[in-house]
Amino acid sequence: MSHVVSAEPIVEEEDRSEYAGVVRFYELAKHQEWQVRDVPWGNLPPVPEGKGSPERQARRRDVWRSVVMQQLQADVIACEMAAQLLNAAPDPEARLYYSTMVQDESRHTEAWLKLIGRVGGEGERDPHLDKLGHMFLEADSLEEKVFLMQVFFERLIIPRFRLIARSSRGTILEDICNRLAVDDGIHHGAGMAYERVLLEDADGKVKSSLIGAANRMLPEFAKHALWRPKAREFVGSLMETRDRARLVQELEHGRRLAASLGLDVSEVRLPAL
Ligand SMILES: [Fe+2]
Ligand SMILES: [Fe+2]
Repeated sequence: MSHVVSAEPIVEEEDRSEYAGVVRFYELAKHQEWQVRDVPWGNLPPVPEGKGSPERQARRRDVWRSVVMQQLQADVIACEMAAQLLNAAPDPEARLYYSTMVQDESRHTEAWLKLIGRVGGEGERDPHLDKLGHMFLEADSLEEKVFLMQVFFERLIIPRFRLIARSSRGTILEDICNRLAVDDGIHHGAGMAYERVLLEDADGKVKSSLIGAANRMLPEFAKHALWRPKAREFVGSLMETRDRARLVQELEHGRRLAASLGLDVSEVRLPAL
């Protein structure tokens, strides 16, 4: 079939302005990029050093080791999740952005692996984090994956980094937590920007599936946040009242995030705490 082709090819400039937010987070991610060698490995203790008897010190170290283990476990799952997002996203701007997120999660994992090597090696896994990981990885649609991982999880995790950093001043652990709080702020922001674009064309069925996904995820997130491995059981009861109060605020924030994406959150059930 032949067409009459004009000598001047008509280049249709597609309007990509709705992706400007995603592009902005790509540029931010490149600007903020750091390297594992930037962490002052030789100059600071890995985690806070305990005082008192050798038994007491060993017990303290086990507590910190379990904190590091939980973060390592989360970032290994995040590697798989970021790779899924890179593979699933059809839009060039989002693919470019996700290529940086894959690198970030991989770098986070590298830093945690090095740190855990200095505090006794890998330990007990948090079973709730594994369940959350399955929820992200098996979510049906791209909208749902972005929603669960970037809109919720990566936002809800930031106050936890700040909290760990506050209780581990002058250590490698503090340094890494501060870096990750910034990175996950970018991951969350990029997810919000992309989810807005995705939801513009989404039908009611997709939107209500997101509310269902939130209702499955939030109780598991609550269990993850309150979970204590054997090493931390003795601090667990001490912290629990404060932890629960904090968690209620975080979950409420999650609901507001969903509302800000234009979702009908009247059906969101926050877990009873
Ligand atoms: Fe991460
Ligand atoms: Fe992240």
